Amino acid sequence: MKTIIQLAPIKGITDRTFRSAFVRHFGGVDSALAPFLIKTDSESKYKSLSPEMNPGLRTVPQILTKSPDDFIALSAKLQNYGCDEVNWNLGCPFAMVVKRGEGAAMLQNPEIIESFLEKISSAISIDLSIKMRVGMHSPDEILKLIPVINRFPVKEIIIHPRTGEQMYDGEVYPEAFRAAMELSSHPVIYNGDIRTAGDLLKLYEFFPGVKGWMIGRGLLINPFLAMEIKNGKSEDDAGKIIRIKQFADYLCESYVNDLQSSAHVLDKMKGVWFYLSQSLPDGKKIEKKIRKAGSLNHYMDEVERIFK
Ligand SMILES: Cc1cc2nc3c(=O)[nH]c(=O)nc-3n(C[C@H](O)[C@H](O)[C@H](O)COP(=O)(O)O)c2cc1C
Repeated sequence: MKTIIQLAPIKGITDRTFRSAFVRHFGGVDSALAPFLIKTDSESKYKSLSPEMNPGLRTVPQILTKSPDDFIALSAKLQNYGCDEVNWNLGCPFAMVVKRGEGAAMLQNPEIIESFLEKISSAISIDLSIKMRVGMHSPDEILKLIPVINRFPVKEIIIHPRTGEQMYDGEVYPEAFRAAMELSSHPVIYNGDIRTAGDLLKLYEFFPGVKGWMIGRGLLINPFLAMEIKNGKSEDDAGKIIRIKQFADYLCESYVNDLQSSAHVLDKMKGVWFYLSQSLPDGKKIEKKIRKAGSLNHYMDEVERIFK
């Protein structure tokens, strides 16, 4: 199937080290949106979004802010590092973020979004894309937002058809997505709950006009998913398990090289296995054993035992 698949940002998991290991071991993903950056992030974090530091996978940085001035300054910084596109986060539902009036909280205020876009549009000289939900409290909120966004140059809009209030669970609102797509004069990407090739096929029939698909948790659980969608077939289970182990070993080694402390590496690997274990037989047991590892050595022994 010919289709565009983007790796979704999952803060804490899909960092540069993860993305680099992912493209080395699995295919099918055309580009990635990186987890959000904030103003106080370190210079090295901004630099890590440069194309040179992300070979093999086009990576678009994302900024979370409600301040147009900060967005302009941070976009210029990313441009200096060679980025040609920046994404604005209008979907983060984390309580702290919403309390600050950022992310999904902004979806209730078309006027604030309009004034933000007015200020930044003429001031940034790289492409702008937007990742948003259908609303903060109600899926109808997006119907007031799309006409506003239509007035500005936006490369694409990624829409997750849940409200901020729903966080990451509960029914999605396909009709709100359809209405938004029909209203939008910009290309639209669908994001949310694509876990199997069959899920995507169903959505494709429902929304033939979308430009592409963004997948987060589905790819973390089953990293073969994008290849399965594109090739129409999947590898046998034994082959998959070998490749998952190779990926996890490589990723762990990469984190050991990239991070300061083994405790941090252990935390990262536990986060990765939270998702990865869900695609394996006995996944719950595997996740529990890995979660209980008290040190990196204990973790490594446990992984060897599991895959013996
Ligand atoms: C732990 C976690 C962290 C996330 N971090 C980000 C983020 O940094 N930026 C963003 O736009 N979305 C973020 N998301 C949302 C995902 O990108 C995606 O929109 C959501 O998980 C729905 O897609 P999926 O069902 O394919 O995972 C995060 C989601 C989760 C569960």
